[in-house]
Amino acid sequence: MKILVATEKPFASKAVEGIKAEIEGAGNQLILLEKYTEKAQLLEAVGNIDALIVRSDKVTPEVLDAAKELKIVVRAGAGYDNIDTAYAKEKGVVVENTPGQNSNAVAELVFGLLVYAVRNFYNGKSGSELMGKKLGILAFGNVGRNVARIAKGFGMEIYAYDAFCPKEAIEAAGVHAVANQEELFTTCDVVSLHIPATPETKQSINAALVGKMKKNAILVNTARKEVINEEELLALMQERTDLKFVTDIKPDMDAEFAEKLEGRYFSTPKKMGAQTAEANINAGIAAAKQINAFFKDGCTKFQVNK
Ligand code: 3PG
Repeated sequence: MKILVATEKPFASKAVEGIKAEIEGAGNQLILLEKYTEKAQLLEAVGNIDALIVRSDKVTPEVLDAAKELKIVVRAGAGYDNIDTAYAKEKGVVVENTPGQNSNAVAELVFGLLVYAVRNFYNGKSGSELMGKKLGILAFGNVGRNVARIAKGFGMEIYAYDAFCPKEAIEAAGVHAVANQEELFTTCDVVSLHIPATPETKQSINAALVGKMKKNAILVNTARKEVINEEELLALMQERTDLKFVTDIKPDMDAEFAEKLEGRYFSTPKKMGAQTAEANINAGIAAAKQINAFFKDGCTKFQVNK
């Protein structure tokens, strides 16, 4: 079987070595398309492949139509909003993700962004500390749980809300469960977003919600830019000059945010949450193993488009 790794933002080389060893060890062939810049390169590369490993690379109907032999796509990571899962299903292509494999990396970055924010982006002025502050985690999945674990080390008071995770499961992790997202925003000094981009969550982080935050609150986004209503957030933050916003996903309105919220806004130039050797190795090798298991035993344990 021919397995293509197509990564516009490449894995660490150790991860590629690991993926290659897994794939070749199972008698399959690895093809690499890294740092591609044009969609045409991807369309050409998928022509005769049986399986595809991607990161945030867009797997559109056009890509799926071009991949005539494709049987399985594995998103080496958590969020699969970059893949047209419904169209893949129509075409009989299995889509999987590798849940949990890069979640510690993303969770660590939350604190990198937070320390940077509370210390005023290292501008030399006196900042504040995270200890004793109330942290709100929006969605208690793999990343949210890691954020809670690390926050305990910082001495933060931790709250979470998850529409799909029972209160008891949140409390069992030593975290206060709140009744809804409004309560989370009202209660906390910092809110960290860990919701996927779905029709229900898109644009859901709006002025009504963020406007409930306490004085000097911080919003952290390491999830997806689509969950934020950018126009409303920008307008709100121009009124509420105490609020800060730090993000690992550059908003569409990045230039306006940077200009109008000077000293209160930071975005990484490229999404860096999962960009560690460890996360690349974990997610990349998990993807390769899942593909091998699919071809060997028909295993579809991690399928997301059933
Ligand atoms: C994920 O959904 O797994 C993260 O957002 C990481 O995405 P990336 O593989 O594009 O860095």
